[in-house]
Amino acid sequence: MAPLVVSGVSKVYTVRGRGRGKFTAVDDVSFTIAPGAAVSLVGASGSGKSTIAKMITGSERPTSGSIRFGELAVERLHAGGLRKYHSRVQMVFQDPYAALNPLHTVEYTVMRPCQNFLHMAPARARERVYELLETVGLTPPAQFAGKLPHQLSGGQRQRVVIARALACDPELIVADEPVSMLDVSLRADVLRLLASLRAKRGLSLLYITHDLLGARVITDEILVLNKGKVVEQGPTKQVLQHPKDEYTVQLLDAVATPFAAVGPSPSQ
Ligand SMILES: Nc1ncnc2c1ncn2[C@@H]1O[C@H](COP(=O)(O)OP(=O)(O)OP(=O)(O)O)[C@@H](O)[C@H]1O
Ligand SMILES: [Mg+2]
Repeated sequence: MAPLVVSGVSKVYTVRGRGRGKFTAVDDVSFTIAPGAAVSLVGASGSGKSTIAKMITGSERPTSGSIRFGELAVERLHAGGLRKYHSRVQMVFQDPYAALNPLHTVEYTVMRPCQNFLHMAPARARERVYELLETVGLTPPAQFAGKLPHQLSGGQRQRVVIARALACDPELIVADEPVSMLDVSLRADVLRLLASLRAKRGLSLLYITHDLLGARVITDEILVLNKGKVVEQGPTKQVLQHPKDEYTVQLLDAVATPFAAVGPSPSQ
């Protein structure tokens, strides 16, 4: 198990066309995720959360700074190295429907990484698919294995994405708003699943969210991002109970009073 160490990372995009110029999406961000730890990255839309996720998973390169996973310099990895890295660091996206190939069955989707990364023979890989479906609560597995994405509910689809992410036994999962497209009633279930995977498998977790209260459920540390900069960083309880930064206070107020802006309800 390796720690993830993000040091002084920035990402500057060059914007073309009208309004062209440089745009700093991530500005000198540093944090560490120890083996088995869970960290939340919280911030408003456009604050740079997904850009950080992409740099950690290697699909974007930092303009400056470094990302180390144990001994590995992530920003310097290329094809072969990245492939190997992806067996250790997996991503779960916001939209499970877009993340799944509509023509692939659940079994095929979850089996492929078992074969590609772990080089399992088909019979063993199939067995593992069933184990993984059990792990993510798609039971009985035989009922789900042959299904296509459109035959599943949103929550079930996200469980398939999580099963696929687990298939190659990763050490770290980067989950970019994994529950924001799910029905509110399903969100807690999927969060509980991520929390239990962390506890049972010793996985590390980077949980990206708009939702400070969701962050409370599954992570021990929170980083608050505003316009690409970390404005607050600390143990979850401390950040939520004694926020130091004005922006964190605003985020907390937004959670506490979601209807304040539209005034009292007609019955009041
Ligand atoms: N390829 C790109 N080229 C130029 N600007 C980009 C690019 N990708 C992202 N940005 C800009 O960088 C900023 C941060 O984007 P990012 O997707 O990281 O935000 P986010 O915090 O994930 O937002 P959301 O909560 O809406 O998902 C945004 O202003 C976005 O427009
Ligand atoms: Mg995003």
